[in-house]
Amino acid sequence: MTIDLEVDDTQREADPDALLVVDNLTVSFPTDDGVVQAVRGVSYTVRSGEAMGIVGESGSGKSVSSMAVMGLLPRNARISGSVRFRGQELIGLDEDEYAKLRGNRIAMIFQDPLTSLNPVYTIGFQIAEAVHAHHEVSKQAALERAVELLDIVGIPYPEQRINNYPHELSGGMRQRVVIAIAMANNPDVIIADEPTTALDVTVQAQVLEALETAREETGAALILITHDLGVIAGHAERIAVMYAGKLVETGTTEEVFYRPRMPYTLGLLGSLPRLDKQEHERLTPIKGAPPSLLNLPPGCPFTPRCPIAEDICDRDEPALLAAEGTGHAAACHFRSRVADIDAAEMFGTDAADDAPEVLA
Ligand SMILES: Nc1ncnc2c1ncn2[C@@H]1O[C@H](COP(=O)(O)OP(=O)(O)O)[C@@H](O)[C@H]1O
Ligand SMILES: [Mg+2]
Repeated sequence: MTIDLEVDDTQREADPDALLVVDNLTVSFPTDDGVVQAVRGVSYTVRSGEAMGIVGESGSGKSVSSMAVMGLLPRNARISGSVRFRGQELIGLDEDEYAKLRGNRIAMIFQDPLTSLNPVYTIGFQIAEAVHAHHEVSKQAALERAVELLDIVGIPYPEQRINNYPHELSGGMRQRVVIAIAMANNPDVIIADEPTTALDVTVQAQVLEALETAREETGAALILITHDLGVIAGHAERIAVMYAGKLVETGTTEEVFYRPRMPYTLGLLGSLPRLDKQEHERLTPIKGAPPSLLNLPPGCPFTPRCPIAEDICDRDEPALLAAEGTGHAAACHFRSRVADIDAAEMFGTDAADDAPEVLA
């Protein structure tokens, strides 16, 4: 038995801590081949100071949905729904107004730090510029703040480093510079889109730590976007799993890691390396690939890859509904059944007999 209650979002606006309220956001792109439905009715709320992870395979609409929030979509994008930041509607906001928010109240960190940094200016100059852009401070004060910020994000010898150009730094250091720039104006929210994807594993941990420090120092909320569930563990209190342009499971990180109710989430967890098992342990990959978002067929988009799919899954796309016995929501007709199946049973290998030990 499952309770067929739509997840109640009517109270979201009343939440005094609601900082960013995304409501039924849809984004599509008309192309010569048809309409790409990149984001199909995404709703979430981020509260002051909290960290939310958005996870999903490549092409699931993570970047497009966050670009919509930032007002950075290409002109041909069709957007509907609502994005309210501190009660202010952002969809349709003119560019001047957006520019006041971006980098100031809402900061963004991209996968490749070189897209955010200018190769012809020193990093000290660029951080100082970010400080200058929204505050009247002396050149000297801005540079001092740049040194301070570099120190905070863990760059050694910051007084010397401010004179370096981006190409003189490693990828991990460059990303920490971008985090320093993001912090420069004490933003209310930092959106980090695959901030560690281009870095190797040891550096990833340092960058995530710098991001954590940025949160502590600024009190900013964080939206951490990644294709890697392992990145979210320990860095976000809540998770939204995204598939084919929709959120398919949302809840606290603990809930979603330990009691997944959407087969896709179970699959993502099963393909995570386990820290508590021998390295030769086989993982449980989800076979197949996400669907094209061009002319998406009816039904649940996960059906072709889902071992427990039945006829109804081909016909009706499940809504994101409360999963009985848990404190969270999942978009699966058979979400209660998922409770009794582990990743290995579901996807057919001998790995992942319970949730991975990566939360600690
Ligand atoms: N400008 C665009 N024109 C057409 N399709 C686009 C455009 N930008 C993104 N898409 C499509 O939107 C979908 C979601 O992309 P994206 O949000 O970048 O995925 P993710 O960040 O989850 O990897 C993909 O199918 C992508 O090809
Ligand atoms: Mg992306």
